[in-house]
Amino acid sequence: MPGAKTFYITTPIYYVNDKPHIGHAYTTLACDVVARFMRLDGRDVMFLTGTDEHGQKVEKSAQAAGMDPQQFCDQVSENFRDLSPLMNYSNDAFIRTTEARHDRASQAIWQAMADNGDIYLDKYAGWYSVRDEAYYAEEELVEGPDGEKQSAFGSPVEWVEEPSYFFRLSQWQDRLLAYYDEEPGRVLPPSRRNEVVSFVKGGLRDLSISRTSFKWGVPVPGDPDHIMYVWVDALTNYLTAVGYPDTDDPAYQKYWPADVHMVGKDILRFHGVYWPAFLMSAGVAPPRRIFAHGWWTVEGQKMSKSLGNFIPPQQIVEKYGVDQARYFMMRELPFGNDGNFSHEAMVNRINSDLANDFGNLAQRVLSMINRNCDGAVPEAGPLDPADQELLTLAHGLLPRMREAMAEQAIHRALEQLWEVVGAANRYVDAQAPWALRKTDPARMATVLYGLAETIRHLAVLAQPVVPEAAGRMLDQLAIPAEARDFSHLGADGALAAGAVLPKPEGVFPRYVEDEAAAAS
Ligand code: MSP
Repeated sequence: MPGAKTFYITTPIYYVNDKPHIGHAYTTLACDVVARFMRLDGRDVMFLTGTDEHGQKVEKSAQAAGMDPQQFCDQVSENFRDLSPLMNYSNDAFIRTTEARHDRASQAIWQAMADNGDIYLDKYAGWYSVRDEAYYAEEELVEGPDGEKQSAFGSPVEWVEEPSYFFRLSQWQDRLLAYYDEEPGRVLPPSRRNEVVSFVKGGLRDLSISRTSFKWGVPVPGDPDHIMYVWVDALTNYLTAVGYPDTDDPAYQKYWPADVHMVGKDILRFHGVYWPAFLMSAGVAPPRRIFAHGWWTVEGQKMSKSLGNFIPPQQIVEKYGVDQARYFMMRELPFGNDGNFSHEAMVNRINSDLANDFGNLAQRVLSMINRNCDGAVPEAGPLDPADQELLTLAHGLLPRMREAMAEQAIHRALEQLWEVVGAANRYVDAQAPWALRKTDPARMATVLYGLAETIRHLAVLAQPVVPEAAGRMLDQLAIPAEARDFSHLGADGALAAGAVLPKPEGVFPRYVEDEAAAAS
């Protein structure tokens, strides 16, 4: 796409030996929706996801499975790769931190930080959580159910004492604060920005960045007894994927610095504090934005091993449909907040927003055109103020959604879309085109034309969230594949009267409880 502006968005790389659940699926889904929106809006997009494969946790799991760690990672990373076809993600790349090119990038960034005088050898004595792969200060720990110390995320911690290289994080306080101030949307949502700023203002301790008690990781350049702290290597994946340390690499030139690192709130500190400090130290531009989203609970409860309530993404896709699952997760809560996943809420969204509101609108209008206009796009006559109003709303939808998507307020973009769905439904009821058939067929044609044109806008703009269903709607409006991006929106690209339409069919079925299962 010559001259297109670029857009680089990343998900966190997933701990390779975790079993994918809806929390994982959520981060990638949000990136997918933003990436699809940007592509349709003419940007040259790089959307990256992948797996985080080093560290003590993986080494232990491989041992427990009686496997060589690499072989183990090769096997389990497929669980995350398989999410893309399942959830209909459009990622451009999938990175694994056990790729050889990644060792090179991680060692290069380490060396650059060392050359800048930010790394020194000392000894670490403190708390470490293998599950979170994180160091915790005494005052950050809480008391667990049996009085034992644990992290605020409920992970066990152990006391660790070993030689370690340190990063001079304490030296980066002012430059980090300046970085947050440089652009208003550096860390979003604003509540998360406040959290990061106050953490940094509170004073920063130097960070332990190497371990000697295990082997599964990237060796420290010049001192292979030390393995890099897994987060140093993990964060570097975002650079590896665009060719670093080859800063002449066309991908690096085009996409770095990343436009958005999308993360969950639990890993904000790594992305919002450590990562920009590492990058600035290494002389690499820090990312433009870090967006931290909230966490899902399931039927009101935290997802946990002990409760066994992790929902595998496959389960919801099989039960509700992929577009339905995607829509629900993006619409149910303001993006950034925590939310609750429940069967009841899912069914409500499917039956009310998708089936009744959007699906029914398209089905009603397309069936009327099929029956009363010889199955072709009707010709519009002079427009009434009500027609004009609806078309103006539809034509103005893209700029409103763009504004919301520029700050990853995906829920707000969807609210805008459904406002037009609602307006179109009210317009159908008020104009009653079925009654005009006998009394004023020319007026009926004008009304149906305006509705078809509105549905075209809605379907084109719904593609990032419900790609399959929106695609089928556009098929039914006979919109060719090359006319489905946002450059065809607005009055200029309007539907051509006379185009023959295929027979309509519903794209958003109602969810009906399986009665036999419900009765048992
Ligand atoms: N490997 C690290 C990331 C390294 S990035 C350089 C990691 N992996 S993870 O698999 O544990 O988490 C990946 C993402 O899933 C995080 O953004 C996390 O917030 C998200 N979620 C995990 N559980 C979640 C919920 N219950 N709800 C929403 N998202 C959650 O951290």
